[in-house]
Amino acid sequence: MATLCSRSCLSFLFGVLIGIFSLYFITNYFSFIRHFSLQPEGQNRSEVLALGIQSERGLIPSGVDSAMADSLYRHVRVLCWVMTGPNTLQTKAKHVNATWGRHCNTVLFMSSAQDSEGLSIGLGTGEGRDQLYWKTIRAFQYVHRHHLHSADWFLKADDDTFMVLGNLRWLLSAHSPDRPVYFGKRFKPYVKQGYMSGGAGYVLSREALRRFVAGDSRDSLSRETFHPFIPEHHLIPGILPKSFWYWSYCY
Ligand SMILES: *[C@@H]1O[C@H](CO)[C@@H](O)[C@H](O)[C@H]1NC(C)=O
Ligand SMILES: *[C@@H]1O[C@H](CO)[C@@H](O)[C@H](O)[C@H]1NC(C)=O
Repeated sequence: MATLCSRSCLSFLFGVLIGIFSLYFITNYFSFIRHFSLQPEGQNRSEVLALGIQSERGLIPSGVDSAMADSLYRHVRVLCWVMTGPNTLQTKAKHVNATWGRHCNTVLFMSSAQDSEGLSIGLGTGEGRDQLYWKTIRAFQYVHRHHLHSADWFLKADDDTFMVLGNLRWLLSAHSPDRPVYFGKRFKPYVKQGYMSGGAGYVLSREALRRFVAGDSRDSLSRETFHPFIPEHHLIPGILPKSFWYWSYCY
């Protein structure tokens, strides 16, 4: 078989490969350094982490070092409001309340009408997709009116969203709640500045509760930190077809 490439050509290709690998290694190395020396804008992260130990409401199993989670719990206060409705309060919202909702500093369940047991807040709206806009606006108005000073960050989630509050607090600890910023999975259609996916949940700083400004929610390696679908749809490569609307919505 005739050789496709001469000796010098092979050496050249080899050199190119070495170059690519070195570049890959160097860029990863620097983003690693940047990640760990990240200078928080607002609060001083090392101060946050050094501060007192208080159990994260006893949610972390004994034997596990919870110092960091406890400290973040006290210094990055997150109010979660969960969009629910009369039909899913018992089947979905209840389970949010029993799982990730317990890691919020405050958790509120927003519904069109108050339920008989008083578990949810009635917003006086209708139900259904076309009412989502009003439910969301009314919910934020309610939180603004009654809870503006009881948290630093205000998270909106659905009753089928799963949030990892510890990771969220870690992301937020690098930002000041006094700056108008919000984080989530940013989609680009419909409006020039884009918007955050409702299903993935999004979080507003205290200042952003007055005015909405989108921040970059990706981590130091440019990976997304909010995901609108169930885990396997994001984890298994190729499961969302290339033609699926999601890809054209992403930045
Ligand atoms: C952050 O806090 C640590 C510990 O108190 C201190 O050593 C460091 O200088 C502080 N950094 C800034 C930027 O204030
Ligand atoms: C959430 O849990 C708390 C504490 O167990 C309970 O008092 C509250 O009624 C629950 N709310 C919902 C919506 O299930």
